[in-house]
Amino acid sequence: MNTFILAIESSCDETSCAICKDGIILSNIIANQKVHEQYGGVVPELASRAHIQNIVPVIDKALATANCQLSAIHAIAFTQSPGLIGSLLVGSQFAKSLSLSLQVPLIAVHHMQAHVLANLIDAPRPSFPFLCLTVSGGHTQIVLCESPSKMKVIGETIDDAAGEAFDKSAKLLGLPYPGGPLIDKYAATGNADRFKFPEPQVPGLDFSFSGLKTAILYFLQEHTHDNPDFVQQNLADICASIQKRIVSILLNKLKKAALQTGIKDLCIAGGVSANSGLRNAFTEMGKRNHWNTFIPKFEYCTDNAGMIAITGYYKFLDKNFSSLSISASARAEW
Ligand code: KG4
Ligand code: ZN
Repeated sequence: MNTFILAIESSCDETSCAICKDGIILSNIIANQKVHEQYGGVVPELASRAHIQNIVPVIDKALATANCQLSAIHAIAFTQSPGLIGSLLVGSQFAKSLSLSLQVPLIAVHHMQAHVLANLIDAPRPSFPFLCLTVSGGHTQIVLCESPSKMKVIGETIDDAAGEAFDKSAKLLGLPYPGGPLIDKYAATGNADRFKFPEPQVPGLDFSFSGLKTAILYFLQEHTHDNPDFVQQNLADICASIQKRIVSILLNKLKKAALQTGIKDLCIAGGVSANSGLRNAFTEMGKRNHWNTFIPKFEYCTDNAGMIAITGYYKFLDKNFSSLSISASARAEW
């Protein structure tokens, strides 16, 4: 018998639903929330309200795209943590209601573990054990993944996340939120060696990005003091130089982790893995060192329910179900 799973993701500002059949994603519908742009960041209360508006149409569309009836679903997977609590509550309450009304199991999914397992959605897939650099708006981690249910964080940021480093740098340049994709766009035509930003000295496999933000702030203050048009005149070179430094901070630590563990299958995941500078440098690093590199398809990099569905599928195989009394949680242990 085929196994159909309906998955819901609502941890931040994307409302998403995916349908998966035996580990194959049939649909992955994502509704973005434009409402936050004018505030320069995600406003939690507005995100919760937008999830309430989006969730029914998104689920309907995911079922229709997959050509699937609700009555065919065998389990409901949902993002239980971590994330914005109001946003998580909308998805988790909806998932519980569906599970109760359809009388099918409920599967709670850890959002960051799902980012890692997004690498298992499409072939070619990494072999276990693999390392995953998970880089999003809220997290920056190196995860050692031994199986779909056994993962360990072996390095993480001690301050800002990589996505925050992109977004905060963009804000200093006067770019709208979320600035990461815009830095990526302008960097494409810039000279990445024009400006030098410092690389933090953090022991072990941990990361730090707060010093970079301060360095960029001072750099801009110094240059705009003499020339108020400095940013407009040099935007591409500034973006390319910032991007190059963020990418080198990330990949130097991933390389260190690969050398320390001897693991040769390396993945990236999370919103920042959509960055073209990171994707190119990561692939080149793999080629140079004879490591196998894997990057999820673009739609599975930023927040999406496809990754919740694939994680839910592996939990379904393990019969790792949750009771209806489980609650959403803003913070999560691994
Ligand atoms: O994983 P994600 O969609 O949401 C979280 O769980 O945080 O990641 C969002 C982050 C934002 O900081 C956004 O600026 C960044 O991913 N991002 C990018 C790019 N696309 C998304 N950063 C740099 N370059 C991109 N192309
Ligand atoms: Zn995420």
